[in-house]
Amino acid sequence: MNVEVIASDACNVVEEESCLIIPLFEKAFPLDSSLLSETDELLLQTLADKGIFQGKAQSCYYVATPKSTYQGVLVVGLGSREDYDDEILRRGGGKAAELLQQHRVSHIYFDISRHDNVPPLPFLEGLVLGQYAFDVYKKAPDAEDLPVKVQTATVIIDNGVEVTPLLSSLQVGVLTCLSANGARHLANTAPNEMTPRALAEFARGISDESGCKCTVLEPKQMESLGMNALLGVARGSAQPPRLIILEHHHSDTAKTVALVGKGVTFDTGGISIKPAAQMHEMKYDMCGAAAVLCAFMTLAELKPAINIVAVVPAAENMTGDAAQRPGDIVKAYNGKTVEVHNTDAEGRLILADAMAYTVDKYKPDAMVDAATLTGACLIALGHFAAGVFTNNQEVADSLVAAGNATGERLWQMPLWKDYEKQVEGNHADLCNIGPREGGAITAAAFLKNFVGDTPWAHVDIAGTAWGVKGVPYWNPDHATGYGVRLLTRWVLDQVEEN
Ligand code: BES
Ligand code: MG
Ligand code: ZN
Repeated sequence: MNVEVIASDACNVVEEESCLIIPLFEKAFPLDSSLLSETDELLLQTLADKGIFQGKAQSCYYVATPKSTYQGVLVVGLGSREDYDDEILRRGGGKAAELLQQHRVSHIYFDISRHDNVPPLPFLEGLVLGQYAFDVYKKAPDAEDLPVKVQTATVIIDNGVEVTPLLSSLQVGVLTCLSANGARHLANTAPNEMTPRALAEFARGISDESGCKCTVLEPKQMESLGMNALLGVARGSAQPPRLIILEHHHSDTAKTVALVGKGVTFDTGGISIKPAAQMHEMKYDMCGAAAVLCAFMTLAELKPAINIVAVVPAAENMTGDAAQRPGDIVKAYNGKTVEVHNTDAEGRLILADAMAYTVDKYKPDAMVDAATLTGACLIALGHFAAGVFTNNQEVADSLVAAGNATGERLWQMPLWKDYEKQVEGNHADLCNIGPREGGAITAAAFLKNFVGDTPWAHVDIAGTAWGVKGVPYWNPDHATGYGVRLLTRWVLDQVEEN
């Protein structure tokens, strides 16, 4: 989707075949839009008078306007002024996506100044996310049934207001949402195709496009580096593991941030096998990896003044005759030994090597990992917040802030020493599981052993990565791409002002 910003107070900028977007608070009538013709203003007033459209949050209404140059008007409800936050408009954008598609709209106008200065970005974000569809495995529709997508969004601001800052923030926002759609696509892709190799190829594609550095470690190199925790998880699978590394360097700064994403391309549980019922959903066990790669994809294009390293341990957790057993003991990259009591707690094992390696090799100033790590986190927080765990309050606070700004919200959980005790090993330094209670926290406590002194936060996205109902810009049966907007925003917030 192309975005343009026009500074104008003329009402004749609107082209034919386009739709005017009018965000409205409850009780905002009578309207004040110089873009609307008098007849159309009356039309909307009638809708309000009849109670058809009252500006309720997440309500949307499209009216065709055959007597005007533009083809229609779409009103988006914002609810009451006091309760407004950007997420309401973002969800309005998600609802609008469906209506605009139905009415085959390809060009929209969003007029800020005459609509209470409602910000255009959340609407565009919801729209871009809402337009995503996953249909690559379905029979292609006939040409005339192909869905029409919005190609251009024109934002109108008052004459004299600067165009460039708004335009660039809109472009970054739209690009980020397109990357989030990219992450959804990676995750939705069937696990027979989305293998560790395929993830590595995707990363190479990013590097080809942006010119950033891409390194992919294969099992032999992992062996010589001592990444036995990662190798152990992959041993049951015919698909060899990969450690994928993307680097963006900027000469103006010494600051480095690292993003690490869990890339289990399918999680059967291994020998500690999972029940059959929902096992197909474990193709989403690489959503952390997808978020990290796709956040990096945007950042590599924006080239901010900060060094960024994105690291993805990718493996498939299967049950082959070479598979890791409960009881196995492996030595991780940092020399710590781990008793594997449950082969289904594999995410923390692959992250252990990936994070210890990242810390050792890149010495980041801050590191964030994203992982569909525990069912316990889903039970604790449900689908509307990811859990964040940290050894450094500033990192957690900055993540929570980025989450509130993007609508990809986080809730902090404790990480006290008591939990660390619960993952100490009997026969080795550590055990890969703790008691059932507090399972999301003990998983984080386990990870803490592999980050050294690096300021770090772990984001458990088990609840937010897929299956979220009631958010119009997400499909409840698919991956959400959660984390792309959060991590992109967080990294951009880390750029030092000079
Ligand atoms: N990928 C799962 C976590 C998961 C489960 C995410 C359900 C989303 C929905 C992870 O590898 C796992 O299996 N974790 C175990 C850990 C346990 C064995 C300590 C879990 O949560 O049951
Ligand atoms: Mg598992
Ligand atoms: Zn897993």
